Amino acid sequence: MNQAEWERSPLSQKLIVDLAKKGSAGLGEIVYLSETSSTNQRAKKLIDEGKTSFAVITDFQNAGKGRLDRIWQAPKESSILISMVEKLNGVSNPGWLNLWAATIVRRVLFENFLFEIKLKWPNDLVVPNGNSFLKFGGILSQIHKDQVIFGIGINYSQDQNELPIVTATSLKLLTVQYRPREEVLADLISTMHLNWQSEAASSEFPTAATVREYQAASHTMAKKVSVSLPNGKVITGIAEGLAANGALLVKTQSGEIHTITAGDVN
Ligand code: BTN
Repeated sequence: MNQAEWERSPLSQKLIVDLAKKGSAGLGEIVYLSETSSTNQRAKKLIDEGKTSFAVITDFQNAGKGRLDRIWQAPKESSILISMVEKLNGVSNPGWLNLWAATIVRRVLFENFLFEIKLKWPNDLVVPNGNSFLKFGGILSQIHKDQVIFGIGINYSQDQNELPIVTATSLKLLTVQYRPREEVLADLISTMHLNWQSEAASSEFPTAATVREYQAASHTMAKKVSVSLPNGKVITGIAEGLAANGALLVKTQSGEIHTITAGDVN
């Protein structure tokens, strides 16, 4: 790894716009903020002001949020922090929005960095680590009015001592392949937008191909799992598969099938 390549500097919005241009027909503005509370929060405000189909990127969030209302923190210029906003247009099966975004983000990262990337249900980006995993990214999807905000956080250049927990990692620690943040962001923006246009507009959302891609990348399916539910209850069993709406089906020892729509899988 060439340490100098991963050195931190502010994002170039112009570069992202230029690189994303060819693949982003119909996408509105790419808004860059050197610092913001949270790109998802800012996206909500911009939707309220009338913007449609756009992206918000930043170098630092002072109130970033993860799933289940957790804090999402990263040192300045160390991360990929973006909210992609798309019109829902009455998408069928909104339960799959999270999983759809995870599938596309995983594909983009795999094509850029060429290492094994798995998805821990519903949308954690992880690498296998023995019987467990290390997490380097996640997605917080939120519906606001008639649009969906895909908030994506990817640990990019953090060293181990900058990560919040020992089971976290970063692209820099995982890959031998360097890519500038602008290139990754532009690829994420164009690929998500193009796929959204073709897939969300079709009567089949998600497509069978997306479902297969998600399942093939899953770090959860067919494994023994412990799921902590938001109410504090823990369900232990085998992850049997997905319901049509993207919920996780867990079969306990007694043979009972639990349909889980939110929780933390371990
Ligand atoms: C998770 O794994 O819990 C989801 C993390 C999502 C974090 C991203 S960073 C960009 C966007 N803005 C936020 O406040 N959260 C998402």
